[in-house]
Amino acid sequence: MHIAIDGPAASGKSSVAKALADHFGFLYLETGRMYRAVALGLSRGIPLDQLRLEVTEAGRFLLNGEDVTDELHTPALDRGSSEVATRRDVRERMVSLQREIAEDRDVVMEGRDIGTVVLPNAEVKIFLDAAPEVRAERRARQRHQRDIEPILEDLRRRDRRDRTRAISPLNPASDAHIIDTSEKALTEVILAAIAWVKERSGKGDTPV
Ligand code: C5P
Repeated sequence: MHIAIDGPAASGKSSVAKALADHFGFLYLETGRMYRAVALGLSRGIPLDQLRLEVTEAGRFLLNGEDVTDELHTPALDRGSSEVATRRDVRERMVSLQREIAEDRDVVMEGRDIGTVVLPNAEVKIFLDAAPEVRAERRARQRHQRDIEPILEDLRRRDRRDRTRAISPLNPASDAHIIDTSEKALTEVILAAIAWVKERSGKGDTPV
């Protein structure tokens, strides 16, 4: 089974996707980290055609053999990844790698274009959204920052770029289940998502 989780930055995608993957025993793939790793490689002066990106079974991201997993969530790569994500050559490579990883296996994949482009036949598609102010507060807490304003600015800029880019813009697939998480606790969203997956898989209360 393929589960696609999409939505803007800090909408709760990673927490929900991880919880679903744990609950159902599926592979979890955070595609944002792939774009971040490419941005990191390009910022180091490595040309795109010499970038080798691998995702290990343990969920580590290797850039030309080096484990960069824990270096990817920085403000510079927030910006850099959303810039490289507008490039057609980058997206084509990422999408084919993502499809390869999902082939013949159960996966929860999260990103921006999973339900629309990467896995259009996913059995379950969930689109998470939340007000920008709420997302900025969450991000500030995650990164132990007090000042919300610059984070909010950055999120708005990134949202705009993600939603208006020519290739694979961020928007819900027509058959996605949309959850607004602004006023919901994370556990509530996770329980709703698990219930939705079970309903879609048509197996009631038994695990998928
Ligand atoms: O999800 P995350 O915020 O880590 O993603 C970083 C950036 O990568 C996003 O702002 C977006 O521009 C890009 N991205 C994308 N398509 C995906 C995942 C991420 O364009 N499937």
